[in-house]
Amino acid sequence: MGFVVGIDVSTTATKAVLVDGSGAVVGSGTAEYGVDMPRPLWSEQDPESWWSAAQAAIRSLLASTGTGGDQIEAVGLTGQMHGAVLLDGADRVVRPAILWNDQRTAAECDEIRRAVGPERLIAITGNDAIAGLTAPKLLWVRGHEAATWATVRHVLLPKDYLRLRLTGDHAIDKADGAGTLLFDLASRTWSDEVLAALDLDPSLFPPTFEGPEVTGTITAPAADATGLRAGTPVIAGGGDQAANAVGVGVVDVGTVALSLGTSGVIFAPTEGPIHDAAGRVHAFCHALPGRWHLMSVMLSAAGSLRWLRDTIAPDAEFGDLAASASGVRAAEDGLFFLPYLSGERSPHPDPLARGAFVGLTLQHDRRHMTRAVLEGVAFGLRDGLDLMLAAGMPAPVEIRASGGGLASGVWRQILADVLDAELVAPSTTEGAAFGAAVLAAVGAGWFTDVPSATSALVHRQSVASPGPNRSRMAEAHAAYRALYPALAPIFHRA
Ligand code: XUL
Repeated sequence: MGFVVGIDVSTTATKAVLVDGSGAVVGSGTAEYGVDMPRPLWSEQDPESWWSAAQAAIRSLLASTGTGGDQIEAVGLTGQMHGAVLLDGADRVVRPAILWNDQRTAAECDEIRRAVGPERLIAITGNDAIAGLTAPKLLWVRGHEAATWATVRHVLLPKDYLRLRLTGDHAIDKADGAGTLLFDLASRTWSDEVLAALDLDPSLFPPTFEGPEVTGTITAPAADATGLRAGTPVIAGGGDQAANAVGVGVVDVGTVALSLGTSGVIFAPTEGPIHDAAGRVHAFCHALPGRWHLMSVMLSAAGSLRWLRDTIAPDAEFGDLAASASGVRAAEDGLFFLPYLSGERSPHPDPLARGAFVGLTLQHDRRHMTRAVLEGVAFGLRDGLDLMLAAGMPAPVEIRASGGGLASGVWRQILADVLDAELVAPSTTEGAAFGAAVLAAVGAGWFTDVPSATSALVHRQSVASPGPNRSRMAEAHAAYRALYPALAPIFHRA
């Protein structure tokens, strides 16, 4: 048994990891790039930078581990979701890719709701129109750059542009496909009805594949450019959230993944295409056949703690700041923090939502404010989880938690109490890239299906369990929930 490689085309870098038959990450290579923000609310990247970075990352991985391309049995791809990569008939990029965090398309979201019908849109795709998803970006280019749009023959997502450069094929996985807002969630492919309502030609969109399926093989020029062997199979993979879930072993119903980085994501596999009737949480395809997932996305999770540190304690280490909050009460003492510092996606899809401290007194100091931030993020995540439970997912027994925020023992305990589940940490911190490698291990034939692969390759240990504070935190959460409705009129007036 040789190795598999997982490649993550993220917003900041492309990373390649090398994984052996036991699931150990034996090496990695990374190359970074920037995000262009040519105007307020815009966020773009040149797809060529992903291809250059992928070549550098793969070459560095092979060189640093002394691995030959012929030892690699399959390559798995993942990456930032929802970005729009537009190509002409000769596969040339016609304009910079518009990324998942670009916010220019509020008008196009309204246009989509009107064209498809707001309820029908959610019933078919599982999702409401929000600026982050792909479809509104296409309508924006059509409306604002008509000459460019007239040349577009192919629409791809970021990792699928890398696939094109590696294999010459146009293809997309089901998880990223569902994140375009152009998918029929139940049938796991493009929705004729949505495409027709938006007057988008179905031939613009690539064939769709399940995560572990092989979509093509490394071409001779790509082999020269990367050091991989020509003919190596490349599997479909998945959007970064679905691949991350595979990488922490969250493929079966009842398990849940929490990733606590700048943003905070709760991801729960489902056995069918269930969704929230108001579209307040995402419903996408998972990266394995026969599984879907619900997902809530908080925009400023560990980002809220970073903001607090930068603003009131710039000299403090994150660990020390969080630890200082262990001996104080916040919510129980009447102090709350709303983490909507960059607007919110779930549970309040509201770009105008804002952060707030509520309940400050002369008795409160930096420690209480820190504790309020840690608790406020946990309460906001709990709100997202509650919407997912109301949509029909079973209560989690175990939450596989990853991301920088989990380094704090105080925060881990608050999260276990507020989410009311055991927190379990995966053995690898390589996230989505590792998940893509696990999918590649199935594509390489090492395992018959993804659950067998995750059982064998993903290792984990318990890091926190709900404790005696659990019921007091549930009461505090009830008080927290009253704050957004009370403050929203003020946020919307600003
Ligand atoms: C998921 C999402 C982000 C991007 C960032 O819906 O928008 O996770 O995929 O990489």
